[in-house]
Amino acid sequence: MKIAIVAGSNRSSATSTRLAEYGARLTRSKGHDTELFDLYRTPLPFYCPDEYYEGHKGLTQFKELMRQADAVVLATPEYHGSVSGVLKNALDFLGKEHLGGKPVLSLSSAGGAVGVSSLQHLQTIIRNVHGINVPEWISIGGSQREWFRQARGDEQPDEAIALRINRAWDAFLELARLVRGL
Ligand SMILES: Cc1cc2nc3c(=O)[nH]c(=O)nc-3n(C[C@H](O)[C@H](O)[C@H](O)COP(=O)(O)O)c2cc1C
Repeated sequence: MKIAIVAGSNRSSATSTRLAEYGARLTRSKGHDTELFDLYRTPLPFYCPDEYYEGHKGLTQFKELMRQADAVVLATPEYHGSVSGVLKNALDFLGKEHLGGKPVLSLSSAGGAVGVSSLQHLQTIIRNVHGINVPEWISIGGSQREWFRQARGDEQPDEAIALRINRAWDAFLELARLVRGL
């Protein structure tokens, strides 16, 4: 399957992005065609309904990636109990043709113990673009973010966190396989 992962932070050393990268490696290891779009490395313009942004390379790449994906993962930092501005802005460029009928897994990283508030907001947005929210989600919070502060290679995080991530990821891929008939 084609899996698109969006890293929704505007920070170079974001733990939510490290978590997204960990998930990308996991997805590839299971044999899926996986692409990670990092909104820090490829910033998108501010969404304006009056503009068409013809020829904007990053935006064209983003929309095409989302259109072609069988399933999508969205990662966000928890900001003021919600999703990051850059992720919300990116999602405003999308519609039913990008996310409609596709399983979407939500991830968050929070300063507090859990990022449930941003995850709930993310799921509301997904619902409104007709995506299918995966019943699992992944939150890393507080000291759980420590392992994710650096870019990692093949190493595993703490066993309990790795197990939780793997379980949610498997549920996501299984739902995607069923929904997309692949
Ligand atoms: C503007 C701003 C708002 C934040 N709001 C919250 C919040 O509401 N709840 C929380 O637990 N942490 C909050 N934090 C802390 C971040 O969630 C935390 O630093 C997290 O690791 C950010 O993700 P990142 O590492 O991917 O950048 C906030 C941080 C910033 C910069």
